[in-house]
Amino acid sequence: MQLSLLFLFIGVCSAHYNPNVEAGRTSIVHLFEWRWEDIAAECERYLGPNGFGGVQISPASENLIMTNRPWEERYQPVSYKICTRSGNEEEFSDMVNRCNNVGVHIYVDVVMNHMTGYGAGVGTSSTCGSYFNSGAREFKGVPYSFLDFNEYKCKSSSGGIDHYSDAYQVRDCQLLGLLDLALEKDYVRCKIADYLNHLISIGVAGFRLDASKHMWPGDIKAVISRLDNLNTTWFPNDTRPFIYQEVIDLGGGTISASEYFGNGRVTEFKYGAKLGNVIRKWNGEKMAYLKNWGEDWAFMPSDRALVFIDNHDNQRGHGAGGASILTFFDSQLYKMGVGFMLAHPYGFTRVMSSYQWPRYFVNGKDTNNWMGPPSNANGSIKAVTINADTTCGNDWVCEHRWRQIKNMIIFRNVVDGQSFANWWDNGSNQIAFGRGNKGFIIFNNDDWNMDIKLNTGLPAGLYCDVISGQKEGTDCTGKQITVSIEGFARFQISNTAEDPFVAIHVNAKL
Ligand SMILES: *[C@@H]1O[C@H](CO)[C@@H](O)[C@H](O)[C@H]1NC(C)=O
Ligand SMILES: *[C@@H]1O[C@H](CO)[C@@H](O)[C@H](O)[C@H]1NC(C)=O
Ligand SMILES: *[C@@H]1O[C@H](CO)[C@@H](O)[C@H](O)[C@H]1NC(C)=O
Ligand SMILES: *[C@@H]1O[C@H](CO)[C@@H](O)[C@H](O)[C@H]1NC(C)=O
Repeated sequence: MQLSLLFLFIGVCSAHYNPNVEAGRTSIVHLFEWRWEDIAAECERYLGPNGFGGVQISPASENLIMTNRPWEERYQPVSYKICTRSGNEEEFSDMVNRCNNVGVHIYVDVVMNHMTGYGAGVGTSSTCGSYFNSGAREFKGVPYSFLDFNEYKCKSSSGGIDHYSDAYQVRDCQLLGLLDLALEKDYVRCKIADYLNHLISIGVAGFRLDASKHMWPGDIKAVISRLDNLNTTWFPNDTRPFIYQEVIDLGGGTISASEYFGNGRVTEFKYGAKLGNVIRKWNGEKMAYLKNWGEDWAFMPSDRALVFIDNHDNQRGHGAGGASILTFFDSQLYKMGVGFMLAHPYGFTRVMSSYQWPRYFVNGKDTNNWMGPPSNANGSIKAVTINADTTCGNDWVCEHRWRQIKNMIIFRNVVDGQSFANWWDNGSNQIAFGRGNKGFIIFNNDDWNMDIKLNTGLPAGLYCDVISGQKEGTDCTGKQITVSIEGFARFQISNTAEDPFVAIHVNAKL
């Protein structure tokens, strides 16, 4: 019964699964809290030339101004005006134009489950000065009135989500005190669709739907069905927007990610949580077990999955995954995790790009995890500056610019469409695999050195390892690997190396 329903949905809406990246590009990067003018510059100077397919941007709609400007204020909408600390509509359009012109598409984080919280108060303390009265449920900038919220539908005693085991409470009640929009109403659906269609007309390629678990799949579908095709200045005729829904499903909960497959892709939160355990070698996990990584690990089908090592929530201990999640704070393990993800064929991949904050643990909890982006004294977001060595300044971490990660973005483009091949493991934490005859990667996450000859599947020749260095002109700044006529190569990896893994591909042949 449930299964046949699923197939019905998949048949109806197949178009929203396509990420709409340009041919030859295979991943997107989340430039969390960046200003539109910095993203435009980054598309031109770095993302376009290095094969990135797109950028997930922070919410573009006007939000509440909160004391001390925490990052969560971006998830507290006040209207659908394109007007935030990241920039105004003119800057937004300029970003979309400039990024599209260099083959990098824009994916907007959309908050449509709720407006700001009931505690927000009354006034115009919003990023564009739109009036709101959260007690009266009034948002003049949309406009929404008390009729547009789920007040009378929610059956919990507190008005919030008292029990996550009750799917009705999860969808109809207030998430963390945020005013829950009545998405069953045509008026509300139209207001949201108008906003998204405005973004589509400007030239965006798709949407991340925040808090999708807290919306009924059918309500999301009703909004999506009102969306226009993408702007034909940059996209082929009849292209549907890419949709990926944030649904946290680590298994065993009341709400399953599969309920949302009919609308588009879904975030696979098990991916980063489980890979974190494997790479940290917790719970008896070993990299050798990754041989059947993918659906066999109880993940959703690969062509429904949006995958990532960490996101803006779980890198700071919010949302799903817990302590196993790898982040830039554990840079050595993190690079292995991102490297594995980008080499492996499962899912559509997103890499994270963060800002620093001073973690401060009290009883195992980071009490500074609320902190917003690097800001000036007047509250504006600091520019992303670029240092002479290509790293970023002003506390922007720019993981996507780390050589190992940037080169694995290129690796994934080079091996796109190639089969998973030539798996090898030592029964422990040394593993290797290839992608057809285009690329090969090998990890040593054991506590001893490795020295091994393996079949890479690659054509004979001299290759430049894109982890310890990269090919620059005719030179290689890293290790060189010789592949024999039979496709074999010798790999020596010290367990104490800064990066105990090696990756080679046919575009880095010397
Ligand atoms: C598509 O984008 C172009 C360039 O920005 C713009 O002139 C045009 O109006 C847009 N088309 C639609 C249908 O919105
Ligand atoms: C796209 O649609 C427009 C308007 O219907 C039409 O004029 C044009 O020929 C179409 N382009 C292609 C490539 O099909
Ligand atoms: C805020 O401060 C920054 C850095 O000093 C400055 O560049 C910017 O123009 C200021 N913005 C406003 C709105 O005053
Ligand atoms: C793992 O690899 C090393 C050498 O590469 C080997 O000595 C060891 O026996 C292998 N197996 C296990 C289970 O550690």
